[in-house]
Amino acid sequence: MSELLLLCRSKRQTQSLGRWLGKLFIAGDWLGLTGELGAGKTCLVQGIAQGLEVGEGVQVSSPTFVIHQMIPGRLLMHHLDLYRVESLDQLAELGYEEFLDSGGVCVVEWCEIVPESIPGRGVIASIELLDEKTRQIRMRALDERGRALIGQIRRRCAAYVRERWK
Ligand SMILES: Nc1ncnc2c1ncn2[C@@H]1O[C@H](COP(=O)(O)OP(=O)(O)OP(=O)(O)O)[C@@H](O)[C@H]1O
Ligand SMILES: [Mg+2]
Repeated sequence: MSELLLLCRSKRQTQSLGRWLGKLFIAGDWLGLTGELGAGKTCLVQGIAQGLEVGEGVQVSSPTFVIHQMIPGRLLMHHLDLYRVESLDQLAELGYEEFLDSGGVCVVEWCEIVPESIPGRGVIASIELLDEKTRQIRMRALDERGRALIGQIRRRCAAYVRERWK
């Protein structure tokens, strides 16, 4: 399965989807998040942190101003927000290549702002705001591993599945 369309009717459901992603992540996974301001990207990342068993006291917020946060858990999570990033060079200076190869996972908000930052692996989740509380989340696989992850999400989050493709 290379694409999956989900419907999350509350913040809680989006976090629950994130929690499953966090539980299913393995070393080297990459997830890109797109969607307008307030779509729910960080909300999903908060769920991912729970799924990665990040300590209760660790705050996951939009790292817009710091661009990158390293969050320890079952796997180390590199959480990036490219909203204010202008080039791949700027990301390279932060050590983006090392993050990709760190044996942890990378979760990148606004990844489309620097298209060259999107590796040929993992999943892109595009969040669309349908109304105040409802979000449509389209997950697209970039490789075989991404397809496997999407397949697992479809089974675990069957209640949220809106439509499916092969
Ligand atoms: N179904 C839902 N899923 C996620 N968030 C929701 C949902 N319904 C309402 N919300 C609200 O939408 C907002 C999402 O904010 P969030 O910071 O996650 O967005 P974002 O996409 O990271 O924005 P930014 O680009 O500014 O970082 C929160 O205030 C949250 O409570
Ligand atoms: Mg955010």
